[in-house]
Amino acid sequence: MTQRLVIAVDGPSASGKGTLAKRLAAHFRLPHLDTGLLYRAVGWTALQTGQPPADVAARLTPEDLADPALRSDEAGQQASKVGAIPEVRANLLKFQREFSSQASGAVLDGRDIGTVICPDAPVKLFVTATLQARAERRYQELRAQGGDIIKPRVLAEMAERDRRDSERAAAPLRAAPDAWLLDTTEMDADAAFAAAVAFIEGKGFRVAAP
Ligand code: DC
Repeated sequence: MTQRLVIAVDGPSASGKGTLAKRLAAHFRLPHLDTGLLYRAVGWTALQTGQPPADVAARLTPEDLADPALRSDEAGQQASKVGAIPEVRANLLKFQREFSSQASGAVLDGRDIGTVICPDAPVKLFVTATLQARAERRYQELRAQGGDIIKPRVLAEMAERDRRDSERAAAPLRAAPDAWLLDTTEMDADAAFAAAVAFIEGKGFRVAAP
């Protein structure tokens, strides 16, 4: 197989898409970009500094993605808000396109990878799970980190983020027509990974030689 392997992984929060994308990248020896981090960095920096989000997006560098604070739920909500601004999306497009154009191939995960960023990707996965299952996962994750977590609030915030990401006019969260749907409601991370590898190998792609 000589076709460059680009894997587009989209889906809502806590669907398991990030973990899956990371594991697929390691397995197929491809570089990985978590595009949610770009939006998190823009939302978080704009909030902290008061700069317009589109300007932050235009000046974003890979070093801006290292801050552990970007992993918080608050940063996720900010990311979802700035993700609805068309100029922010436009200013982050080049970075993502360049990443996906590397000769090695690449894995990108986000909300609009299969629809907008890499419409020609040979492999598109849309990872879903019910809102209840995703909220439960996020609740367990947050509880493991300590802190006073209220389950109904986790569910309400996730529903709000789903709604904002799916209903926005600019590149809403949507499965590409040619995406393969992977529902992880009843699957653990290993089962999701095994299913995705089987699907990708079924398309004729194999692990690249080291
Ligand atoms: O995947 P994540 O939870 O880190 O993403 C955080 C938010 O960023 C998400 O709610 C919407 C936005 N986002 C986006 O609009 N487009 C992407 N490609 C990735 C994330």
